[in-house]
Amino acid sequence: MSIVQKVLMAPQGPEFSQLVQGYWRLGEWNMNAQARLTFLKEHVEMGISTVDHAAIYDAGNCETLFGEALKLDPAMRAQIEIVSKFGINGIAPATGEKRVSHYDSSKQSILTSTENSLKRLGVEQLDTLLVHRPDFLMDADQVAEAFSELKQSGKVKHFGVSNFTSSQFDLLQSRLDAPLVTNQVEINPINFSVLEDGTCDQLQQYRVRPMAWSCLAGGGIFSEQTDQARRLRGALTELTDELGANSIEQVVFAWVLKHPSNPVALIGSGKIERVKEAVGALALQMNTEQWYRVWVASKGFAVP
Ligand SMILES: NC(=O)c1ccc[n+]([C@@H]2O[C@H](COP(=O)([O-])OP(=O)(O)OC[C@H]3O[C@@H](n4cnc5c(N)ncnc54)[C@H](OP(=O)(O)O)[C@@H]3O)[C@@H](O)[C@H]2O)c1
Repeated sequence: MSIVQKVLMAPQGPEFSQLVQGYWRLGEWNMNAQARLTFLKEHVEMGISTVDHAAIYDAGNCETLFGEALKLDPAMRAQIEIVSKFGINGIAPATGEKRVSHYDSSKQSILTSTENSLKRLGVEQLDTLLVHRPDFLMDADQVAEAFSELKQSGKVKHFGVSNFTSSQFDLLQSRLDAPLVTNQVEINPINFSVLEDGTCDQLQQYRVRPMAWSCLAGGGIFSEQTDQARRLRGALTELTDELGANSIEQVVFAWVLKHPSNPVALIGSGKIERVKEAVGALALQMNTEQWYRVWVASKGFAVP
């Protein structure tokens, strides 16, 4: 099997692996710390060295579980790039507090959230920190101040965003000294609105790679019972044969990776065989007509 290559996320770095292991669902994988470490080592061996976290994932538990595994072999830290995110304040069910989940990108909140992520992961530095979701009350100057402090203290190397529109991206960028290195967005054949609303055009223009989340629509590619999903499964099955792929998931990853904004693709599965399937997608050669066949199957009509 080929090794997943590292790619430059933005003109001045950093480098991520072309496939990134997502850890949102880690709490559901029922692995003990040793099994978590083995899983990490296995995907790093395939070249998948970048891992994706967020402070909100399972209320911090995903970072804690990952940190426990890393502690068993601290030398692994040097072999991976850790991405995490801040900005969604959930409610801890146990406390029964009377408040709603909300976004918070105030300077103090960013600093506190990052400090907590570092503690849970048991590391000194994040390779990249992302704003998880656009905050309607975002004061870009405050975010810039927080980023500057985190950079100077060595706690974070690079910064990016997630689920930002192109204007939100430009607004934050206008206050920063260093370029934002990614916009992590949903891209899959069921939902590819970022290919249509200018988000990926902007990233292509700036030569900044998107990180594509939920490439398999959170499993919906296989399980959704809508007309759209049925049409898609038909087209993807046909393409699986044509491309000599092993599975429709390989075809989906190849479809996402073909976009000229050059996404890196997040993997959501905790099953190493499925991670291997995703790696196999890198060898597939999908032509333009085949890419559009997925587009047409998703929309249910031909291109105008
Ligand atoms: N920035 C954001 O707002 C945001 C939002 C969502 C996600 N993310 C990131 O993106 C990563 C990936 O997202 P995701 O987990 O939604 O990815 P995904 O790949 O779209 O979905 C993963 C789900 O699909 C299932 N699956 C995979 N292959 C399958 C198959 N062949 N048959 C049936 N089910 C299959 C997996 O189950 P198994 O585990 O059983 O294989 C898992 O439940 C996350 O871990 C997170 O890091 C970011």
